[in-house]
Amino acid sequence: MSFRTIEWRDNKVVMLDQTKLPGEEVYNEYSDFKSVAEAIRGMVIRGAPAIGVAAAMGIALGAREIIADTHESFFQQLSNICDVMAATRPTAVNLFWAIERMKRVAEANRGRDLNGIREILRLEAIAVEEEDLRICRAIGANGAAVIREGSTVLTHCNAGGLATAGYGTALGVIRAAHDQGKNIRVFADETRPWLQGARLTVWELMKDNIPVTLITDSMAGYFMKKGEISCCVVGADRIAANGDTANKIGTYSVAVLAKENKIPFYVAAPLSTFDLSLESGEAIPIEERHAREVSHLAGFSVAPVGVKVCNPAFDVTPARYITGIITEKGVLSGDFRRRISEVVGK
Ligand code: MRU
Repeated sequence: MSFRTIEWRDNKVVMLDQTKLPGEEVYNEYSDFKSVAEAIRGMVIRGAPAIGVAAAMGIALGAREIIADTHESFFQQLSNICDVMAATRPTAVNLFWAIERMKRVAEANRGRDLNGIREILRLEAIAVEEEDLRICRAIGANGAAVIREGSTVLTHCNAGGLATAGYGTALGVIRAAHDQGKNIRVFADETRPWLQGARLTVWELMKDNIPVTLITDSMAGYFMKKGEISCCVVGADRIAANGDTANKIGTYSVAVLAKENKIPFYVAAPLSTFDLSLESGEAIPIEERHAREVSHLAGFSVAPVGVKVCNPAFDVTPARYITGIITEKGVLSGDFRRRISEVVGK
């Protein structure tokens, strides 16, 4: 990849600032956990797996900031740091998955001295990042098989290298198919209100010379009906035990349109995005973001001042609209509840 989404460097966390793309490629350095939490909340880094990596690195930074004489005090402060991370964004379960993983590894190493625990946490955060990259490549390899030669693939939001440690989930599938020499094209929904499609997906794909066409969200149905879309591939923020999938707002509309037009609709996600504690998508918490993201565009007001605004950042696509869920362990299809419990529930 020609960019690095996030990395641990010289005891700092370095992130590509996604709020500035595509205009500027700026890397921010963070040396304290609170500013990492703020970066997650402020969308400097976003996308479910990338948020998980950032939280793990934020906790590792926080562990270095703790001043404690006793293990009890250290673990109390570590728990407070984890709470700050957990309060950043509510929908992507990878955040909570990463926090739990960091807590578990700290607990398992309670017998070490405090610097030993700090070092274990640093190594674990780096492992979360490195594993995510390997997992995305496996998702890509598994998913490429469902992309036929000559396909036009529609994607929504950004589930690319920017949303992960690199390579991407949905865009990983597209990258892998392209790397296999398949002649494919991408249609990228702009993804109002935050424009992850226009600003980020298009930027990534153009860097890799993968042919991409930008459309507004409301054009997806038009192109599907004209027969110009072969399949849809999107990412996920949380997948319930029955396969219902939360992803960027507008994904549900794409899935319904795909079914109406008999177009396969795939979700690509790592196992860390499944939440088996939730029976169905009904229980997935949906983040409500600031009204300004809807009432303004690139800093300019596009609505009368004072208008009432709703801004749910995600929606839930019922499993019945999903053709297959592409994971690092293969493509799940058919009876999702059974397949998810077999593959993820072990
Ligand atoms: O609000 P965002 O930009 O964090 O939302 C991102 C998405 O909805 C992605 O599709 C999802 O996190 C999967 S990323 C591999």
